[in-house]
Amino acid sequence: MTAVMQSKILVADDERHIAEGLQMLLADDGYEVDTATDGKAAWELVQKGGYGVVLADLRMPEIDGLELFSRMRKAGIPSEVIIITGSASVDTAVEAMREGAYDYLEKPLNIGRLKALLPKALEAYKVKQANRSLEERLANLTRFGDLIGQSEEMRKIYDMIESAAPSNASIIVVGESGTGKELVARAIHDKSTRAKGPFVAINCAAFPREILENELFGHEKGAFTGAINEKPGCFEMADGGTLFLDEVAEMEPDIQVKFLRALEQRSFRRLGGKKEIHVDIRVVSATNKNIQRAIDEGKLRDDLYHRLAVIPLHLPPLRERRGDVRILAEAFLRRFSEENSKPIKGFAADALEFIHTYRWPGNVRELKNALERAVILARGDEVTLKDLQAHDQIGGDDREVRISVGTPLEQAERTLVLKTFSFVDGDHGRAATLLGIGEDDLRGRLSQFLAPETAAAS
Ligand SMILES: Nc1ncnc2c1ncn2[C@@H]1O[C@H](COP(=O)(O)OP(=O)(O)OP(=O)(O)O)[C@@H](O)[C@H]1O
Ligand SMILES: [Mg+2]
Repeated sequence: MTAVMQSKILVADDERHIAEGLQMLLADDGYEVDTATDGKAAWELVQKGGYGVVLADLRMPEIDGLELFSRMRKAGIPSEVIIITGSASVDTAVEAMREGAYDYLEKPLNIGRLKALLPKALEAYKVKQANRSLEERLANLTRFGDLIGQSEEMRKIYDMIESAAPSNASIIVVGESGTGKELVARAIHDKSTRAKGPFVAINCAAFPREILENELFGHEKGAFTGAINEKPGCFEMADGGTLFLDEVAEMEPDIQVKFLRALEQRSFRRLGGKKEIHVDIRVVSATNKNIQRAIDEGKLRDDLYHRLAVIPLHLPPLRERRGDVRILAEAFLRRFSEENSKPIKGFAADALEFIHTYRWPGNVRELKNALERAVILARGDEVTLKDLQAHDQIGGDDREVRISVGTPLEQAERTLVLKTFSFVDGDHGRAATLLGIGEDDLRGRLSQFLAPETAAAS
């Protein structure tokens, strides 16, 4: 009986003699029993938790047994529910069972049946509890902040984030596009003592030179034509928090000099300003470029790099941490089927095979996008290979780009990007998804392709 005694039971029945009668009877068998004589009182007790089984009369004033059961399910209260019903309402009780009630008992109660049912319901409750906490533990094991993955490589990254975050050291995150550099930057911020301060991100590739300078340092009123008001830049906005510089290798050389000075002194002037402004910031930067090459080619200043890279963090591409592919795929499947209210259970065998063998050159972003599309397209309760590969088959007339052999790469890229952008009617998110690049990256390219004259003139 000891196992039974660990779980409490609630009897909710508006007929007081039934509630109290059951309480006495079950207490004799060693159960710990509470009673409630209306649905409202029952709901209050149930919310405090701890009941393995709730015996709920179907007909009670205000909150009836069915309503009580449905509230419990919505609130995620895991107690098993046994419905007590008069013979006239058996249909309703059966309906409740379809929704997950454990069983029902008809009035007048057959005590023998109740006594046989209770230990089984309690056992079901316990099994459910055990599975639940196991699932929670597993989910926690496989993630770190918003980062999912438990490969050896990712664990090393988590360890480094954990130990580097509390310091003020500049961290540069290096990795291919779509490997999660921005998520890592956020995790660093969240684990740092600055977590409550601002996290300000700026994409250095997204702006032409003058605009980037303005974005970084801000300006005083009247600093240039059009500067009607003063405007603080990212440096100021990140005061007390973290400044995240994405695609840092794309900064123009003369801004790099100015930037380096600001970093070294933790102070700068707004454009058109005389006053030195001091800030307390931690800098995290990211690049998907080969840094040594960028330095050798004179694109990235050596001294700036060393400033930024007190701690370098290398994020490996997805194909070098194959073990994470399945975990990520399952996590995205769950996320997108919830978001789209589609009850998708898992992957068909051919889809799994593809997920495991494909190279995922666009890394986690590509996997994520492919799964979002697949979930939306899926017809049955499984994602199939066809759903996954749909994105490769745009096809059709205005869906085609003709590029002849010998076209300069830059021009080919321009054509492809602009055509894709117009194909999706200017939807940045969709265009970026189709092109397999980040939205910021897309905006950067578009501003370059669409307005070269204005950019040069500003
Ligand atoms: N380990 C991960 N767990 C969960 N989601 C991830 C992970 N890595 C990346 N993602 C998701 O993939 C997408 C791309 O990630 P992110 O923007 O951080 O990549 P990135 O390395 O900054 O790419 P880019 O160089 O193109 O800017 C995001 O939607 C992000 O949420
Ligand atoms: Mg990024």
